[in-house]
Amino acid sequence: MKILKLGLIGHPVEQSLSPWIHTRFMEQTGIDGEYKLYPIEPDVFDKKITALMQSGIDGFNITVPYKQRIIPFLDELDPDAAKIGAVNTAVRKNGKWIGYNTDGSGYVRALEQVIPPKESLHVLMLGAGGAARGIYRALVTHGFRHVDIANRTASKAEELLQLQEPETISEILTFQEVQQQLADYDVIIHTTSVGMSPNAAEQIIPLTNLKPGAVVSDIVYKPIETQLLHTAKQQGALIHHGHSMLLYQAQYAFEIWSGRQVVVGDLLNQLEQRVT
Ligand code: ATR
Repeated sequence: MKILKLGLIGHPVEQSLSPWIHTRFMEQTGIDGEYKLYPIEPDVFDKKITALMQSGIDGFNITVPYKQRIIPFLDELDPDAAKIGAVNTAVRKNGKWIGYNTDGSGYVRALEQVIPPKESLHVLMLGAGGAARGIYRALVTHGFRHVDIANRTASKAEELLQLQEPETISEILTFQEVQQQLADYDVIIHTTSVGMSPNAAEQIIPLTNLKPGAVVSDIVYKPIETQLLHTAKQQGALIHHGHSMLLYQAQYAFEIWSGRQVVVGDLLNQLEQRVT
């Protein structure tokens, strides 16, 4: 039987939890395969990526700093990946390499476990970097209509508006303005690296006056419970941890590579033990 050959390229990749996750998915489906780490130094990227893509590998994930740099090496892009301008999953299909972005759609799948999308939900996204682009695009294509953005650099928040759908309503706010109207939001999503270990004491904005029943979500997953989530919990909010995004983007990627459905189930708890 054919072995499914998968892997991850990036710099660095050594700490990645993806091999563990994909090995669980292979066990679940009974697929015989491998998921290897391919650390690539930036000055040899072109040569190494070309060799890897010709090596008989079936698919791979792409992480920092190559999510944009991989694009010219691919034959086709999924339309959302093209709009976002970043690829985290490549698959070889009928001799052609196709690029996808499962980060944002994985994030929204994860969020949907906590709160189903409703047109009326008022969402606030904090941050407008690479991760935010994927998440914003996935939110507006998965039934979230009203998504405001606050970012330290306003011009980057403005750039995100190009990813809207016709029915999207988005306002750009400063962090100061956001703090005055936090009670308006049903869902608050933090997408910057503020609060990531070793700077775990940092919090992007103070959280006060949250709407009763609000969901606060953080894509930072080291530590599992960031200062932002800790504060949100104290305020009575429902909290949504970042490691679930990691699992759901992997689930989406594995489905693209294998054509099979896999379930996250208890992997969420098991992954939590591995992160802490
Ligand atoms: P990623 O791919 O992880 O999203 P990125 O594209 O470099 O990384 O984006 C980083 C995001 O974190 C941006 O929204 C950035 O804000 P700016 O656009 O103003 O740079 C945000 N960010 C990083 N450090 C920050 C800080 N100390 N305070 C506020 N925002 C910060």
